[in-house]
Amino acid sequence: MTQNLDALKWSPRDPSFRADPYPWYKALREQTPVLAHHEVGFVVSRYADIEALLRDPRLGVSTPSPWREVMAEAASPALRRLAELTLLFIDPPEHSRVRATFAKAFTPRRIAALQPHLEKTIDSILDRLDPQDEFDLMTEIAEPFPILSITHLLGVPESDWTELHRWTTEITAFNELPIDLSALPAANEAATDFDAYCRTIIDERRSNPGEDLISALLTAEEDGTGLSVDEIVAMLILLLMAGHDTTKSLISSGLRELLRHPDQAELLRNDPSLISSAIEELLRFESPLHVASGGGRWASEPFELHGVTITPGAAVRLLLGSGNRDPDAFENPDRLDIQRAPKPHLAFGKGIHFCIGAALGRQESQIVISRVLTRFPDLEVTKDELTWRSNFVTRQLTELPVRRAARSAS
Ligand code: HEM
Repeated sequence: MTQNLDALKWSPRDPSFRADPYPWYKALREQTPVLAHHEVGFVVSRYADIEALLRDPRLGVSTPSPWREVMAEAASPALRRLAELTLLFIDPPEHSRVRATFAKAFTPRRIAALQPHLEKTIDSILDRLDPQDEFDLMTEIAEPFPILSITHLLGVPESDWTELHRWTTEITAFNELPIDLSALPAANEAATDFDAYCRTIIDERRSNPGEDLISALLTAEEDGTGLSVDEIVAMLILLLMAGHDTTKSLISSGLRELLRHPDQAELLRNDPSLISSAIEELLRFESPLHVASGGGRWASEPFELHGVTITPGAAVRLLLGSGNRDPDAFENPDRLDIQRAPKPHLAFGKGIHFCIGAALGRQESQIVISRVLTRFPDLEVTKDELTWRSNFVTRQLTELPVRRAARSAS
């Protein structure tokens, strides 16, 4: 089917593209590696170009743009603050200051220390499940686990997770391509509620500091070297959002791929030390984010790429999901191979915006995927055709119904 696709006819709105983007990515890479698209801007689909542009200082994220105009005119103050203050939407030198300050509190040691809690959390989720019965792995495991992990890290009540999940869904719906203005009212309201929620938590933590990440950020703020309260609020919202939806995608798509590639699942069960290369391969194969930063990258000066002049007036869309299936970067890219020789994928980005939560995302998915495969060795997906959320930027299954294979055989 790929041979027949005309890359110039590619549309980010096409339901067939959203259901299965890979044939279209192939057509884009082969026929027009830089497509000037009237709705979304310059679409870049090859691994080498994406890798280079992610590191290119001529591209910024806070450049004035139509997206910023929408934000300035129609976004609620809370949503606007998110667009102006969070790491993903700021450039150096501000970006360097905020990221370095945040990194002082979000240390590898703090993440490693989460391990026992993460193990306890997944065990208690799995203890409650009976794999004899069909259950939706998405709602029972992939959705709650990452958010319970991030709430623990931040020291916010676990019982708030459904609310946090709803706010995240409403805000990220506005982060889609092309921009959907009908999603703005719900995003505005969610950002306002989310903002108020974070401020309450910050006030509580100020009077009653703990060992959590928020208390650590406040300590830095009080000694004058840290982030402002608005910056901390924006950071918390970004962490709660970025820190769970992507990991939810990785856990669900990852387990789905292993269940439909039993040879790969068996390899992993027989040699648990393969878990870290398995996670890297799953990140490459079904990347949770298919496009780098929702607001896009914007050129500060015109430059040429594959004969196309990238002008400052339109966004540059870097297709991470396409780069990760580029045969010039990965041999046999459409084959899942958990023993693939190490080669950096693009799923966490590159350069200065490289995912700050990559270690946590990896740690969480390693724990869940290993535990599910060993505790429920004969799990199978009960539907042949699964549906994906109708999104472009985020790639996520809508459900993952499973049960034990033995039961279906009996
Ligand atoms: C499998 C899980 C995850 C994936 C695939 C993922 C993917 C990404 C990608 C692609 C970027 C760079 C976007 C760009 O350059 O435009 C990014 C940035 C970011 N991620 Fe993640 N992420 C994951 C998990 C997490 C977690 C667990 C957290 C927080 C605890 C997190 C927090 C962030 C933050 C704060 C940024 C912005 C960094 C910056 O702009 O300097 N992510 N992530």
